[in-house]
Amino acid sequence: MKGIAGGPTRPRHGAQMISVEHVKVSYGGPNVVDDVSFDIPAGRITGLIGPNGAGKTTMFNAIAGHVALNGGKILLEGKDITGLQPHQRAARGLARTFQIPHEFSQLTVIENFMAAAATPIGENVFNVIFRRGRFAQEEEKTYRAARDMVTFLEIDQVKDEKAGNLSGGQKKLLELGRALMRKPKIILLDEIGAGINRTLLAKISDKILLLNKEQGLTFCLIEHDLDYVSKLCDEVIVMAQGTLLMEGTVDEVRQDARVIEAYFGGGKYEARP
Ligand SMILES: Nc1ncnc2c1ncn2[C@@H]1O[C@H](COP(=O)(O)OP(=O)(O)OP(=O)(O)O)[C@@H](O)[C@H]1O
Ligand SMILES: [Mg+2]
Repeated sequence: MKGIAGGPTRPRHGAQMISVEHVKVSYGGPNVVDDVSFDIPAGRITGLIGPNGAGKTTMFNAIAGHVALNGGKILLEGKDITGLQPHQRAARGLARTFQIPHEFSQLTVIENFMAAAATPIGENVFNVIFRRGRFAQEEEKTYRAARDMVTFLEIDQVKDEKAGNLSGGQKKLLELGRALMRKPKIILLDEIGAGINRTLLAKISDKILLLNKEQGLTFCLIEHDLDYVSKLCDEVIVMAQGTLLMEGTVDEVRQDARVIEAYFGGGKYEARP
């Protein structure tokens, strides 16, 4: 959390949604995340940036439980979740989106949202496919929640479209909606803004800001576009080559010699003065 005056003070202990402590991850070879520690403060929108291959997605995999740790631990609201499976972490309020969207391409948008819901209906996608039209009370409730999500994301025009037919940008919105269907406390967004048009990008930003301000939803987002990051995030975490480079405001990060050096080496975009 920021100080009451809004200064860039580091969060106090106890106000963290996620704490990453000395985390190491390897995919069989050397560690691609090596002894990384940082906090994601509750109720804030935090950026995670760094050149290609820095280990950002791997870090999200580690937090969400999609890859085993080689060392260290992950806390969610102060409780150790290191040993939990991804679905157990999801049940505790942790959601993530994927850099490459993971939609059910043969299901419609509405069905995708229903399948993502934290109900027995959502848990069993076959209910959604084979029992369409025969909604029990619970199914009706899940259906209504899915309709509400369509309205919230302003994608009514494609609600009955198969997810596989959506544009790249619409798939990103679907990905956000699927994460939201579980009513999480925190969402990890992996390049949700990458490769989509400006209109959709602005729409996604508006939704993120709204969810954060009105519902206090915590976000951590990976993005390469620092201008976009600066519109959403007060603080950013910078990774490079599997390590934590620095934490600070977007302006601090932009001016930091280590960050500029990391980007000249990794070079997806220029760090602007
Ligand atoms: N499934 C995998 N198996 C083996 N190596 C992997 C795997 N996923 C990632 N890596 C390697 O781990 C390192 C970190 O990759 P990661 O995808 O976490 O980076 P990133 O910061 O998300 O990059 P980008 O900005 O390109 O998405 C890279 O060297 C990558 O090649
Ligand atoms: Mg990545």
